[in-house]
Amino acid sequence: MPKISVVGAGNVGASAALYLAEAEMGDVTLVDIMEGVAKGKALDLLQAGPVRGYDTMIEGSGDMRSVTGSDLIIVTAGLPRKPGMSRTDLLKANADIIRGIAKAIKEHAPKAFVITVTNPLDVMTYLLHRITAFPRERVIGMAGVLDSARFRAFLAMEIGVSVEDIQAMVLGGHGDTMVPILSNATVSGVPVQKFVARERLGEIVQRTRDGGAEIVKLLQTGSAFYGPAASAVQMAEAILKDKKRLLPACAYLNGEYGFRDLYLGVPVILGSRGLEKIVELDLTAEEKAALAKSAEDVKKGIADLELEPAAR
Ligand code: LAC
Repeated sequence: MPKISVVGAGNVGASAALYLAEAEMGDVTLVDIMEGVAKGKALDLLQAGPVRGYDTMIEGSGDMRSVTGSDLIIVTAGLPRKPGMSRTDLLKANADIIRGIAKAIKEHAPKAFVITVTNPLDVMTYLLHRITAFPRERVIGMAGVLDSARFRAFLAMEIGVSVEDIQAMVLGGHGDTMVPILSNATVSGVPVQKFVARERLGEIVQRTRDGGAEIVKLLQTGSAFYGPAASAVQMAEAILKDKKRLLPACAYLNGEYGFRDLYLGVPVILGSRGLEKIVELDLTAEEKAALAKSAEDVKKGIADLELEPAAR
């Protein structure tokens, strides 16, 4: 059984642990600085097993040393967005949290794959990659799957077809300038433009970009968690089961798409070697320009990071 650790036992972490357990993907360790919360939720999830029919072992811990021996770690720890707060506002607070976690992962689980979820996503993934110094194959951020899921859900509702038949990707940074790609969005291979007028598609693109904020505004006390957790678990499954899924994910670019030393959402193939390939699409000129703009936003975030004092 693989060992999977989930760092952060908040709503995203606990939901991820639930999805992992239900899929019996491995033994799950839930870690949080609030030890009682991690242990309590782990015990609760364990006790749901006989009812839901899973045999997954789930443990809670307040100590990062518990990630020792992990094959894969999902990092969800951090402060969530509050209403009116941008993902970037979270940068400084969450960078401190990620620094500590990255050091612990480097020390105690040097062979693990890491999927980050903490916002601002692209910047936090960059930071974790920098501090662990793990190869880019093993440090990947979750956002594209979530943003694409939102895009797919909205398209399915509009067209009146199953979400299963919508293929569509959102690329770029996980922020206001993310890039929902219309040029290859289809209903089982049929272009969405055949079903939806251009103007309406523009509205769906905008709702996708605002997808996280729409939920923050409704919840008032936090941000989305079912979608983010499900998306991180899909990536974990692709790696642990060597599925070779082609999914949009936040990956370290070293020349791909014309960017260097940057984490950005692009289509990748995920398998047992982690990030196995970055797939370069033929984007329209408009999409290329939008991607460049989104990359600029991520670069600004990364620059903010390096202005901070050196890691503790
Ligand atoms: C969202 C937050 C978690 O997109 O970034 O829901």
